Amino acid sequence: MLNKLKLWKDKNHSSNLRERIIAIRNQQVPSHVAIIMDGNGRWAKKRALPRIAGHHEGMKVVRKITKLANELGINTLTLYAFSTENWKRPKNEVDYLMKLPEEFLGTFLPELIDENVQVKMIGYKDKLPEHTRRSIEKAMNETQNNTGLILNFALNYGSRAEILEAVKRTVTDCKSGIMDINELNEDLFSNYLMTKGLEDPDLLIRTSGEIRLSNFMLWQLAYTEFWFTDVLWPDFEEKHLLEAIEVFQNRQRRFGGV
Ligand code: FPP
Repeated sequence: MLNKLKLWKDKNHSSNLRERIIAIRNQQVPSHVAIIMDGNGRWAKKRALPRIAGHHEGMKVVRKITKLANELGINTLTLYAFSTENWKRPKNEVDYLMKLPEEFLGTFLPELIDENVQVKMIGYKDKLPEHTRRSIEKAMNETQNNTGLILNFALNYGSRAEILEAVKRTVTDCKSGIMDINELNEDLFSNYLMTKGLEDPDLLIRTSGEIRLSNFMLWQLAYTEFWFTDVLWPDFEEKHLLEAIEVFQNRQRRFGGV
């Protein structure tokens, strides 16, 4: 109800967007949407700007899309913000990407709290610079009792490493008798992944025209619907998320059945 009132009052939505939002909410909304936010560098290059300008612009889009996801009643929004492979980028770019969570949360945490958003993270937190880790932990602590959208940042995340580590811990638990190998099944194994407690994504979006997974949630995306767009992440608007969900709502998911 609260969400509905907010939606009606939100003057930032054109009447067309508002109608689409209402129509989407009247059907099954994907519970977990995951996004590979790609194309920041190309967006900057097209404007003869440094790559970090693209990341900065991309951060503003994160705010817009988070608000909309919350309004739509999506339960979890996972955003691929930094992969374990991204450390290979030039130092100034890595440094800037590591400052972005601080910048984003420094500015928007009060707004996220106000909107009942819960911040989470998947990825190797211990290997993040201290300042990045602190800002994420602060946001996670301050929003842990919120019950609205889960805004889940994949930060220093890599899926193969995640799976391998889960296998190692499973083997350890089997050897020590905590787990019976004959009882091990997909659900139990999922509890060893960083996404423990989160549903698998229903919809994956990747921007910028690249059609690949780039080591993102390989286990969790087994039955996910994919939607790709040529739009570069800094140009991604509310209407694009609505389009992706409308396409999703017109797909038939069979999960291997008929
Ligand atoms: C990929 O584009 C994008 C990233 C590696 C970083 C994504 C980060 C953001 C959108 C901001 C995140 C915001 C917060 C709040 C953490 P690219 O640089 O690979 O683009 P390119 O393929 O055009 O070079």
